Amino acid sequence: MKKQISPSIMCADFFDLKNTIRSFEQNSIEYIHVDIMDGSFVPNFTLGTDFVKKLKANTFIPLDIHLMINEPESKLDWFEFGEGDYVAVHFESTAHLHKAVMAIKSRGAKAMVAINPATPINVLEAILDDIDAVLVMTVNPGFAGQKLVKSTIKKIKSLREYLDANGYSHIEIEVDGNVSFENAALMSEASANIFVAGTSSIFTKGMDISESAKKLREAIDIE
Ligand code: DX5
Ligand code: ZN
Repeated sequence: MKKQISPSIMCADFFDLKNTIRSFEQNSIEYIHVDIMDGSFVPNFTLGTDFVKKLKANTFIPLDIHLMINEPESKLDWFEFGEGDYVAVHFESTAHLHKAVMAIKSRGAKAMVAINPATPINVLEAILDDIDAVLVMTVNPGFAGQKLVKSTIKKIKSLREYLDANGYSHIEIEVDGNVSFENAALMSEASANIFVAGTSSIFTKGMDISESAKKLREAIDIE
């Protein structure tokens, strides 16, 4: 599967956002990862509905919206998204996962289900027919700058094996959290193919986007 980069915009320099987005465009970055937090599902707030609207209106890069909010199925209409965008809802955040997934797809977007580090991959069994990707959280959600939960590497590998063995080889695997240059290589070897890059790679201090994107691509393109 094509390896793709999805920078976590919450980690960007907010005083230089326009230039950052333009360098994403110039460097053929595939998605922009937008973390939405409600202070309840995770103990933090980050970006909001107006930010998503503005971003959508100001770049052609598809969005990769990561909803860390409770009951996402009743809040999807708050967000601007459509064809080509990914929207991820957490398995742990709703009793109505199927409803949330179908609502995302009814708007032409691609549906992704996120699972926290301690959530086993078998919880996804009944939803695999309806989704386009799984987001394997490689840290506990809520904050940038955290350290990799090591057990998630083998989880990525088992997930890829399970998907391929059961007729779901089209489902993509996204990883999110401490995607450093070193960890990205391990995640890629375990068959992740969408890399949410934040403080430990694409936004490395002192490196411009063209340099850090190149370095990250070298780390993940191990085929
Ligand atoms: C954490 C967010 C991640 C985070 C990544 O809950 O989902 O996208 O911003 O930041 P790093 O790459 O620094 O772990
Ligand atoms: Zn995220």
